[in-house]
Amino acid sequence: MSTVCGDPLGHVVVFGFGAQGRAQALNLHDSGVRVSVALREGSPRREEVLASRLPCLDLEDGARAADLAAVLVPDEAHAALYSEILAPGLRRGTALVFAHGYSVHYGRIRPRPDLDVVLVAPMGIGPQVRARFLAGSGVPALVAVAQDGSGEAMRHARRYAEALGSGRRAILETTFAEETETDLFAEQAVICGGLTHLIAAGFETLVEAGYRPEIAYFCCLEELKLIADLVYERGLEGMRRSISTTALYGDYTRGPRVIGEGVRAAMRAVLGEIRSGRFDQELAREAAAGWPTLQAARDRAACHPLEEVGRRLRGEDS
Ligand SMILES: NC(=O)c1ccc[n+]([C@@H]2O[C@H](COP(=O)([O-])OP(=O)(O)OC[C@H]3O[C@@H](n4cnc5c(N)ncnc54)[C@H](OP(=O)(O)O)[C@@H]3O)[C@@H](O)[C@H]2O)c1
Repeated sequence: MSTVCGDPLGHVVVFGFGAQGRAQALNLHDSGVRVSVALREGSPRREEVLASRLPCLDLEDGARAADLAAVLVPDEAHAALYSEILAPGLRRGTALVFAHGYSVHYGRIRPRPDLDVVLVAPMGIGPQVRARFLAGSGVPALVAVAQDGSGEAMRHARRYAEALGSGRRAILETTFAEETETDLFAEQAVICGGLTHLIAAGFETLVEAGYRPEIAYFCCLEELKLIADLVYERGLEGMRRSISTTALYGDYTRGPRVIGEGVRAAMRAVLGEIRSGRFDQELAREAAAGWPTLQAARDRAACHPLEEVGRRLRGEDS
């Protein structure tokens, strides 16, 4: 049995070899954990797994072999993987590890009572989880326990997070509810939905007023990287110490007018839909219908003038 820092995790089977699966399987392996990867039949990633010198199992064998099963397939595939493969296959007392609490929190999966159910959610995308580990650091991770049949669940979650490299930064305890709801809120209202629509609204406002689209693109989109890097490195006030006095005055006096009470009320409404389960139900209906709203929105966004300008500036149209 492999050990991490002297504590046994046993045989970890990672289901899926995508963004998180690849990074986590490789980090665990490099930390001395015994790891196999389980893939569905016909997976295009089988060769890559074998080239990484990790054992590659089919899903059924992976479920039977696991002391700890890491569910690293997309959230919308969790319920079927659990009901068809994991529930019938896992041995008594196996630990299930999730990188996001969604399917357990919203009851899309109801794990057998004998299983430990833990969350180890790296606060970064898969490539960062791997790159930071290789650079001798890690990304912070959130850990939580939903079921603790063994009495060891939190210890397993912490050991798993350490083996990912997260102990080099921070391992923070949370709950499945807190991780899921804050993650959904942040991606909907701030870092994905909020940010993309703020950029598009700024671009449209300048172009409607007659300014050149290329200039609007640089001001509202490209320069964001500089500011985001400063915010990441130094926090909001640290970033503000690096901008001009004119920019700072505009930030303090105009920012609250743009992100005013109307935006805050919309944020509270979005959070309410997440907490009540309304967003989860809407997402399930959308998935069952074959993602028509998502596809239509994606098609519209791809034709937005901002994208055309971006493609032209990156030389992709030539
Ligand atoms: N993306 C991130 O960096 C990130 C960050 C934090 C948390 N998470 C969480 O990590 C988990 C994994 O997300 P991800 O983005 O890493 O997923 P992903 O890259 O889309 O996962 C792809 C892998 O999942 C397999 N897969 C897809 N559908 C499957 C099915 N129905 N049955 C069996 N295997 C299936 C694929 O199989 P094939 O090889 O056959 O195609 C592939 O190996 C999710 O819970 C997500 O919320 C992700």
